[in-house]
Amino acid sequence: MSQDHQQFHQRLEAHDDASINPSGNPPLSSLLDPTRRNLLKGGLGLAALGFFAGGIAACSRANASPLLSFRSVPVQLDPAFDRVLVAEGYRAVPFFSWGDPVEPGAPAWNPDASDDWQAQLKQAGDNHDGMNFFAFPGEPERGLLVMNHEYVNPPLHPASVIDTSAPRPLAEVRKEQAAHGVSVIEVRRDADGQWRRVLDSAYNRRISMLTPMRIAGPLAGADCMRTASDPRGLEVLGTLNNCATGITPWGTFLTCEENWHNYFINRDPDDYAARVSHRRYGLAASGTSKNYAWETADPRFDATPDPQQPHGGQVNEPHRFGWVVEIDPFDPLGQPIKRTAFGRFSRECAALRLADDGRMAFYSGDDARNEYVYKFVPAGRFDPANPAANRDLLDEGTLYVARFDKGGRGQWLALVHGQNGLNAANGFPSQVEVLLNARAAADIAGATPMDRPEWAAVHPHSGEVYVALTNNDARRETDAANPRPNNLHGQILRFSEDGGDPAATAFDWELFLLAGEAEGSAVPAHLKGTISGDLFSSPDGLAFDEAGRLWIQTDYDDEDPAMASMGCNQLLCADPRTREVRRFLVGPRGCEITGLAWSPDGKAMWANIQHPGLSYPASDGKTRPRSTTVLITREDGGVIGA
Ligand code: FEO
Ligand code: CA
Ligand code: CA
Repeated sequence: MSQDHQQFHQRLEAHDDASINPSGNPPLSSLLDPTRRNLLKGGLGLAALGFFAGGIAACSRANASPLLSFRSVPVQLDPAFDRVLVAEGYRAVPFFSWGDPVEPGAPAWNPDASDDWQAQLKQAGDNHDGMNFFAFPGEPERGLLVMNHEYVNPPLHPASVIDTSAPRPLAEVRKEQAAHGVSVIEVRRDADGQWRRVLDSAYNRRISMLTPMRIAGPLAGADCMRTASDPRGLEVLGTLNNCATGITPWGTFLTCEENWHNYFINRDPDDYAARVSHRRYGLAASGTSKNYAWETADPRFDATPDPQQPHGGQVNEPHRFGWVVEIDPFDPLGQPIKRTAFGRFSRECAALRLADDGRMAFYSGDDARNEYVYKFVPAGRFDPANPAANRDLLDEGTLYVARFDKGGRGQWLALVHGQNGLNAANGFPSQVEVLLNARAAADIAGATPMDRPEWAAVHPHSGEVYVALTNNDARRETDAANPRPNNLHGQILRFSEDGGDPAATAFDWELFLLAGEAEGSAVPAHLKGTISGDLFSSPDGLAFDEAGRLWIQTDYDDEDPAMASMGCNQLLCADPRTREVRRFLVGPRGCEITGLAWSPDGKAMWANIQHPGLSYPASDGKTRPRSTTVLITREDGGVIGA
């Protein structure tokens, strides 16, 4: 594996998820309640009866799943494994890699290109992440594949050395900024049945850290959003660390800003100590910003207050990240919009639950150790007959944070000024501060600190919500939802809103599975999982297909001796009813698997191979590895997974 890549990724991991939650919110119980019968609504809930009665062991029984018909792929332990291995009868081919041309005039990828940031602005970004497919209305064989580019693996060209002890060359910084963001690419199924890119599509578009975006919702124009460069607080340049996604019922893409705090620094110790909006998110306070030292070339990323400049210079710039950004992929000239009603944290995703009557909820994790699970409930309802009325539905609504009580019940705590202790005496004089400092608001409201909440996914039929809690080696005190200390392997939990109502303020929940080693293995108890089927660690991406199969993507350090039995990172598929888990795909050494999208007929699937370690997709042992979208189809043309 490329040393640079691996070291950089490990460094990112080390600080992306650092626990900085000072709330001391109590873990609620150290024990699963053995007497409780879980009361999840609907058919899945019936199947889950008995889970708690049997304790953790009950869900490891092997069940033949009627949903899963492929044969599982073996673990790949070879340290030089540099391919994508998919289940027998399937094909996985590289489809779209970092540096591939997107916009008109983009040159082909050139591994030796140095400071060509204008080219990068038109080419695919790095570290492909969350992804969705948007079919053209009435044309299921034509669509827009929209994906995030979470971060970059510097140096973006082999000749440069990242030396943060000196100011970084601006052209390098610009190239890294250009490689962040989002790609929109048109794809279509040709007469021969193959899906291909439409290289000259007018919809092909790159959105980056340099794209102007509008700030909307309760914080638009607020004092805390104003900077020397944007004194109105209404427009921001770019989007950062776009991790997972969501979609809206009106066909737009939601990209979520995760570890934005790593791009900023505030060197004023007194200001830093007093400024919750920096401290509670873990901005750097000395040295350089944690990721790329962009502030040495681009002063926008130096958030140290400057009293000589209007609005304190850039002290408010970090307030303009951590949001959900709405993008209409069918409007190639449209400005992305940051929706501030969602609240600000290290947002992993915004998974939609849409009720029959048009009410909505969007579920999100905040991926850091001991952070929280949230939902945003828009005030209005989706009206398919009135597209104009839907346009700004995301600007008004209620943000909630979850408390997971023992006994399988949970509460949604409203993060609303005047409720749950969110008042001026506690540092929240208005709703603006509540949304800006959502983490601190959640501390006061009494949310449950979780084991790094990653993606959420909503079952397409039952409306049950699944959340991946990827791992938490800082877990000391356990509770019912986070039951293992020094949790290296993570868990998936699921919950069901009371009455099936997206706006409910209470829910039933249960552990769907604990990832980790086999129950019978000779490892310490906290490393044992409850998986029925193929083993994995660190669930991260979650997505349901139309049939209700739960696809699980993993992200662990495959060179960590603690992961020795897990091999390379994986894409697995689970039956929510039987809980059987089957390994569908294994990625090249060093990568994580992320992002998942389907064609409307379910016969094509795209998945992202993020930060491969060796030479994928060339797999020649020489070429620089590139994050890559792969296209997965079945040799007999059937539905994936069926
Ligand atoms: Fe971008 Fe938490 O993964
Ligand atoms: Ca992730
Ligand atoms: Ca992860």
